[in-house]
Amino acid sequence: MTPEAAGDPGQFTNEVVWNRLDGGHSMIGPFSAATIDRMLQGARLGKNPRILDIGCGLGAWILRALELYPDAHGVGVDVSRAHVERARAEAERRGVADRFTGQVGDAWDLVRTGDFDLVMCVGLSDVLGGTGTTLRELIRPRLRDGGVVVLGETFWRRPPDEAALRSLGVAEDRYRDLEGVFDEVIAAGGLPVDAHVSTETEWDAYMWACVRALADWGLDEAPPEEQGEILRFMADYRDAWLQGFRGKLGFITLLLRPVPLRLSVLAGRRPAWAPPPWTA
Ligand SMILES: C[S@@+](CC[C@H](N)C(=O)[O-])C[C@H]1O[C@@H](n2cnc3c(N)ncnc32)[C@H](O)[C@@H]1O
Repeated sequence: MTPEAAGDPGQFTNEVVWNRLDGGHSMIGPFSAATIDRMLQGARLGKNPRILDIGCGLGAWILRALELYPDAHGVGVDVSRAHVERARAEAERRGVADRFTGQVGDAWDLVRTGDFDLVMCVGLSDVLGGTGTTLRELIRPRLRDGGVVVLGETFWRRPPDEAALRSLGVAEDRYRDLEGVFDEVIAAGGLPVDAHVSTETEWDAYMWACVRALADWGLDEAPPEEQGEILRFMADYRDAWLQGFRGKLGFITLLLRPVPLRLSVLAGRRPAWAPPPWTA
């Protein structure tokens, strides 16, 4: 969901950029605090809920969930040790550390229990094997009956041009359009009961938070011999957004209720939407 450097990224990986996001924008994605609250409140969790956040990043979703549901316990899993450490520190600061467990590792290898009331996976299904695989094989087996899912998916808002593809370093088939997201989610047994498409304001806030983090690094923290390289990277990152994929890449956050198998055909998509044929 952000520019990927071609070849060896050196010190400029997504992890490094994201880990420099400050408390003002700890969400690693184009969504606001209001969007997070809407989805979490919409989950309508009962007593003592158990929550799993796959790819928890800096903890934006899981820590807010623990605040909104004061009797909840949460597990956040992420491959980035640095992210999990940041999430743990933030959990301490916000007084929810006793109910938060941060685990470092690959989501496929960790957390084998299937009793979560809410499983979240926001912004990483494309690196986990795709939407359908993630929903069917990673999320659903960890969900208890009646549990709900928050899933965040990237899509093309319009057919990507060369600038969009080059700035992101991806092929067109890396993402699909919005209808394609719904197709995949519903085919994998997820019934959308709420959805939020990220606004231009949410995208701008996120991308400028990343650019700001890089600018502050280059101007305030880096040793003089590294400043130029960091600011050059910051400029490329900014212009990949402004001149490359702004307005072309979209993001949708879905609240899903899994559908029992016997009802899945009824809740599925019709081959093509059309009014039923008129008969006298
Ligand atoms: C786009 S960020 C989203 C973070 C968080 N969900 C949020 O919304 O703020 C994707 C996160 O997934 C993590 N990640 C990527 N592949 C992973 C994997 N195989 N297992 C666990 N975490 C992974 C990354 O380290 C990163 O923190």
